[in-house]
Amino acid sequence: MKRYLIDDPTSFKNLRMEELDAPRPLRGQVLVRMRAASLNYRDLLIATGRYRLVEEVKQAFVPLSDGAGEVVENGVDAQKFKPGARVAITFVPGLVHGNVTRDRLGALRGFPTDGVLSEYQVFEEEDLVKLPDEISFEEGACLPCAGVTAWNSLFCGPQPLLPGQTVLTIGTGGVSVLALQLARAAGARVIITSSSDAKLERMRALGSWEGINYRTHPEWQEEVLRLTGGVGVDHAVESGGPGTLARSVASTRFGGSIGMIGVLVQGEINPIGIMHQGLAMRSVLTGSRAMLEDLVKAVANTGLHPVIDRTFPFAEAVSAYVCLQAAGHVGKIVITIG
Ligand SMILES: NC(=O)c1ccc[n+]([C@@H]2O[C@H](COP(=O)([O-])OP(=O)(O)OC[C@H]3O[C@@H](n4cnc5c(N)ncnc54)[C@H](OP(=O)(O)O)[C@@H]3O)[C@@H](O)[C@H]2O)c1
Repeated sequence: MKRYLIDDPTSFKNLRMEELDAPRPLRGQVLVRMRAASLNYRDLLIATGRYRLVEEVKQAFVPLSDGAGEVVENGVDAQKFKPGARVAITFVPGLVHGNVTRDRLGALRGFPTDGVLSEYQVFEEEDLVKLPDEISFEEGACLPCAGVTAWNSLFCGPQPLLPGQTVLTIGTGGVSVLALQLARAAGARVIITSSSDAKLERMRALGSWEGINYRTHPEWQEEVLRLTGGVGVDHAVESGGPGTLARSVASTRFGGSIGMIGVLVQGEINPIGIMHQGLAMRSVLTGSRAMLEDLVKAVANTGLHPVIDRTFPFAEAVSAYVCLQAAGHVGKIVITIG
């Protein structure tokens, strides 16, 4: 079998392919033939040595956290999935319920725990979620990080999204577009921002209520307030970062909520607006297996198909990183594995 490794995380061009025997599952583990993997912005940060949670790379690791595949073999005591079952892999190993705990931060998939850019990989049985037939491997590979993060922000906080409410989401990358799709499926209306009018057109086709180009409207919070009759949105999926947060705060109604997700845009944070507007701010760090299971159910039952901008063959993994870095994509970039 073939897999990719990173041992020098200074450039994704250092991705190296190696050939080795397929691993065997130990007690409680499952061998999975990987069929697809998706890229997240985090993977770019990791591969280029900019991931804050990476202190020191002690050994080579298999990159990419998000994947889907087919069960090949169960280890002793692993019996939840039959060979041939289609599964997605959870982002946070061992996190079954609730939010990420401190001890798990140091063991996230894709670094430092080995990721999924491999033809075969062994996982703990508890880290797999069954994919129904309605969801392709490529679509399933979009869900563990980007999908769960959007799901957690919208539905798992103290003020879960309700039909009829309004959501703001930032940019047209993986998390934001899945948030748009999930919010629409839940009966909410969505305002989305982007650097590009062409991308906003694509978002309209996906059901966005309004789109705002943040390049031509640098004070885009004023547009959000205008569109919402001066009230603001009920929930903001803040996948931008400190540099967009002040505008998201100004865009959110009194007593509304914000899911703090992104690190894309640097800036200063002034907490006064958060207090004056009585906002519920919550950090969203992906989520649990239970959230992925609920998300998979929702995706299958609503007929939602994660937006995949481009797929690359396994042999062209580096091109997938180049494509993500160029940021011309909408939704997700996926690598098909075998
Ligand atoms: N906390 C968590 O658990 C968690 C989980 C997943 C992701 N994240 C974070 O969420 C962010 C998005 O991740 P992703 O994987 O969805 O990224 P992505 O697919 O690479 O999408 C990034 C998009 O953000 C938009 N953007 C870039 N600069 C911007 C700016 N100055 N203002 C507004 N939008 C901007 C661009 O869309 P346009 O071209 O349309 O403007 C870009 O395509 C990243 O910071 C990532 O680290 C956090």
